[in-house]
This record gives sequence, structure tokens and C-alpha cells, in this order.
Amino acid sequence: MLLRTAPLLAAALTALAAIAATPPSASTRDGVYTAAQAEAGARLYATRCAMCHGRALEGTFEIPGLGDRFMAHWSNAPLSNLHDYVGRAMPQFAPGSLTPDDTTNIIAFLLQANGLPAGSAALPSETGALARITVQPTDLKLTARAVPRTQ
Ligand code: HEC
Repeated sequence: MLLRTAPLLAAALTALAAIAATPPSASTRDGVYTAAQAEAGARLYATRCAMCHGRALEGTFEIPGLGDRFMAHWSNAPLSNLHDYVGRAMPQFAPGSLTPDDTTNIIAFLLQANGLPAGSAALPSETGALARITVQPTDLKLTARAVPRTQ
């Protein structure tokens, strides 16, 4: 009996160890970027994004702003989805022209502009690490979406 269950037990313990080794997940409220990243992102935003989305992220009639509605759109989605979308689709006149680190800095700026706090650890650019951070707006009322946006 003991001999039969031992391999199963070992497998279960290995699975548990893997779960324990995964770093705890964070949300954008936990200070997931540095102030220096947001500063670099602000400079990039000014030259690559502001002509469409506005200096104050206000957008236009045709172009979405990057304030409350934007945060509501992406809330509950892993930050990797947003990073992937911006890196692939923006700036709209030259999609795919941002480096992963540029994209990360711009996202840091967008988080800061939307009132989310900076912290001491830098926001990573790797998809796996970004996937463990959930987009959460400062205002709970904006957490409207139940299904993470994957676009
Ligand atoms: C030429 C104009 C233009 C530029 C420049 C541009 N965008 Fe956009 N952006 C758009 C348009 C138009 C949309 C809406 C696209 C859609 O709905 O498919 C959009 C959508 C977005 C969205 C999704 C908004 C939401 O509510 O989900 C994000 C995020 C975004 N842009 C970020 C950026 C960033 C960051 C930059 C600079 C690197 C940038 N954009 C540069 C035109 C632009």
C-alpha cells in the first residue's frame, strides 16, 4: 500500500513545491514601477503618443483617451496583455516600433498618470513576469470588466 501511494505522494509534493515557488501575484496598486521608468515613459509618450492621445491623455472624438475609461477597459487583465497590445499596435502610425523596454516605460507613465503609485522595484518587460501583475485602477468603481481583455 505504502509503496503504491509513494510515487503519487511525491508527485503531489512536487506540484505543491512548484506552487510555493511561484512569486505571489501583484496588482498595479502595489507600486510595480519606478519613478525613473515613468519619467522615461513620459518623454516617450510626448513624442510618440501625445499627438493622438493628447498631452493630458484626453484623446479626441475619434481616438480614445488613456484615463478612466482606458483603465476600466483593462482592469482585471494581466499587465502582459496591455504590454503586448501597445508593443504590437502602437503608435498607430508605426506599430511594432517600440522596444519592449520602451513599452514598459510608457506603461509605467500611464500607470502614474492614472494615479497608481511608484515603488522601489522596476517594472519588468518579460511577458511571464508581467502576467503576474493584474491591472487595477485606483478607483474600485472602474473595475467593471469581469473578463480580462486579451485584444
Ligand atoms: C496616429 C494616432 C495614434 C498614435 C500616435 C498612438 N495611438 Fe494609441 N490608439 C489610437 C487609436 C485610433 C486607438 C483605438 C484603436 C482601436 O480601438 O482599435 C488607440 C488605442 C490605444 C490604446 C487602447 C485604449 C483602450 O482604451 O483600450 C492604448 C493603450 C494606446 N492606444 C496606447 C498608445 C501609446 C502608448 C502610444 C504611443 C506609443 C499610442 N497609443 C500612439 C491612435 C494612436
